[in-house]
Amino acid sequence: MSVSPDRSPHVSAAEGSSVKPPRHVAFIMDGNGRWATARGLPRTEGHRHGLETLRRVIRHAGKRGIDVITIYSFSSENWSRPETEVSFLMGLLRRFVQRDLSELHEANVRIRIIGSRDDLEPGIAALLQEAEDLTRNNTGLNLVVAFNYGARVEIVRAAKALAQKVLSGEMRPEDITETAFSGALDTGGLPDPDLIIRTSGEMRLSNFLLWQAAYSEFYFCDKHWPDFDEAAFDEALTCFGNRQRRYGGLDAKAL
Ligand code: FPP
Repeated sequence: MSVSPDRSPHVSAAEGSSVKPPRHVAFIMDGNGRWATARGLPRTEGHRHGLETLRRVIRHAGKRGIDVITIYSFSSENWSRPETEVSFLMGLLRRFVQRDLSELHEANVRIRIIGSRDDLEPGIAALLQEAEDLTRNNTGLNLVVAFNYGARVEIVRAAKALAQKVLSGEMRPEDITETAFSGALDTGGLPDPDLIIRTSGEMRLSNFLLWQAAYSEFYFCDKHWPDFDEAAFDEALTCFGNRQRRYGGLDAKAL
């Protein structure tokens, strides 16, 4: 895999105009199972093809000048899937880190993992740590991997961490502001997602980035994740470019 260093703004074919990219795009990579089932293949084949899509998306995000992409690769609820599928997904993560880490590092990609590491097999937790440590000082695309992630648990973890600081006298209750709370989340220091893309036609957040999505734009696409290609990504970026974000205020025109 190679993540191209040349960062060109996306020119929308429809309008012939330059589209300002979102700074942070988050992906709910849904539909691997349905993609495989529709082809008479085992669900795991869908995940394998999904990894290929992920590689293309990372490369394309770099080309489009996006700073951060977050991918929902394993939710804290995914443990309830059949054991064979869970262990396939664990193996896929292992292969992704082992095979792609050096190329991602060469392409100046910085990897950050969000989610709980507590219930992970020590070998996997160590690999995730290695990916973060190796790429910590990189300055290109930030790749945030949500693994064993659930937003409600993340929020509870942040609340506990802040409560602990108040208990130890490090903070006063009145110091718990939105900024302090954001900083205590797994995503502390990262910008909130501007755009959240979910493939496969489902229109829900599924416990993904609940706090951070307060002002995100949503884009739902009918394609299953393995079919999500560069053209589909560009379509989402063009759609985002046409949205008006008001953050609860009014358009300048309306004032
Ligand atoms: C949702 O599709 C997808 C997942 C639970 C896993 C996503 C994993 C990848 C795209 C591969 C890359 C993975 C890693 C670990 C880097 P689904 O299985 O829920 O599909 P369905 O809704 O059609 O059943």
